[in-house]
Amino acid sequence: EKLAVPLTSVREEVLADADLWAGGGNVPEAKQPLDAGFHLLPNRLLDELAEKGDESELAQIKATADRLSDLVDRVVVLGIGGSYMGARALLEACCHPFYNQVAPTLRNGRPEVYFEGNNVDNDAAQGLLDLLGSTSGNWGIVVISKSGGTLETAAAFRIFLRELKESLTDTDDLGKFIVPVTGTSGKLFDLSTELGCPEKFPVPDGVGGRFSVLSAVGLLPAAIMGLDIEALLTGAADMNEHFASTPFDKNVVLRYVAAGHAMEEKHGADIRILSTWGKRLEAVGLWYDQLLAESLGKQERGAMPLTIVNTRDLHSRGQQHQEGKRDKYITNVIVKEGTREPLAIGESDNNQDQLNELAKKTLPDILSAAIAGTNQAYREDNRPTADLVLPKLDEYTLGGLLQMLMLATVVEGRLIGINPYGQPGVEAYKKNMNAILRK
Ligand code: PA5
Repeated sequence: EKLAVPLTSVREEVLADADLWAGGGNVPEAKQPLDAGFHLLPNRLLDELAEKGDESELAQIKATADRLSDLVDRVVVLGIGGSYMGARALLEACCHPFYNQVAPTLRNGRPEVYFEGNNVDNDAAQGLLDLLGSTSGNWGIVVISKSGGTLETAAAFRIFLRELKESLTDTDDLGKFIVPVTGTSGKLFDLSTELGCPEKFPVPDGVGGRFSVLSAVGLLPAAIMGLDIEALLTGAADMNEHFASTPFDKNVVLRYVAAGHAMEEKHGADIRILSTWGKRLEAVGLWYDQLLAESLGKQERGAMPLTIVNTRDLHSRGQQHQEGKRDKYITNVIVKEGTREPLAIGESDNNQDQLNELAKKTLPDILSAAIAGTNQAYREDNRPTADLVLPKLDEYTLGGLLQMLMLATVVEGRLIGINPYGQPGVEAYKKNMNAILRK
């Protein structure tokens, strides 16, 4: 309420302004109609499923994921930035913590999933090829690039394609082992057509890379991992409804923006710490780091996002957060209910560690005490914090959380006058790198 422009009016502008939702990732100047924007994608995909059934994109994503899952034991997902971070976030948040290592029954018989093409690290790429070559069974590739021309992904695709071809006895089948997710034209589109890939999934024009997790970019890898992609989209669609119709004092998107903005403008806290309480949220935080940094870090503005994982980072960054410069605003992400039975410390005959008095306490009890103790310490020193509480970590909640953070980023962009789409600063390195390579 104390902001110069009330956030409820910003919301109305955002919902009404087609141009604001425009922006095709690597084509920042592209203008798309409102109904092509990222925010309505979950609703559109769910409606299409209800109308067209097996013919819908969602049903085809699931069918392709099942086909690939029956065909191969391992899938390499190639992509970078917005074409990578979302799928990794979903895997780490919603799948078994040792997804690739556990017995296949513990991941419902789905293939192992590895990520590459998100760097140009020779040792890492070779390491993955060692693994693929040293184990029996087939593997396949999901290659994701909206522009179809990003060098890191394109180079990895060429290398992994060569190895895949060599690993097959019948190379006529090569196309069946590859699923591209890309624009409706471009280099990757042409290449995958030439390779005879039976399916291709689009990244809608109006949906920028880091806003594309709830398109085939994130949904196809999620479906391969056996996740419930309808629940993901339903969580996001419900968040849309909440954003559009809930008054300010109960609206999580608007309140989240208001708090972060006020802390920055009025208190100089322009470092936004996303303090995740649990290992499974780290990749969600990294996805958000990209979203906020690449969307609002322009024209010498934009808060600096930083994800931490507690209690791990209480033993490293915690010192600075408690006693360092007063330039940080901390948002805790807390999961209320775990998916597994709580492990108790238990009684032991060897009480040299003096833990018998805590014998009945469980790991979640310790985590809750750590959260309360840390918040108390911050409060006593006037260090600002807020809590984002997730009922549990499942597809529905994740869909809502990702959508909330994307909406908040766009609302904040509107509030501070920054177009959240496009990433002109990223283009500079690409241009130089290509010029150096082609010299
Ligand atoms: O958010 C973005 O637009 C970027 O991070 C892109 O996702 C990233 O550069 C990869 O682009 P592309 O999907 O065209 O390969």
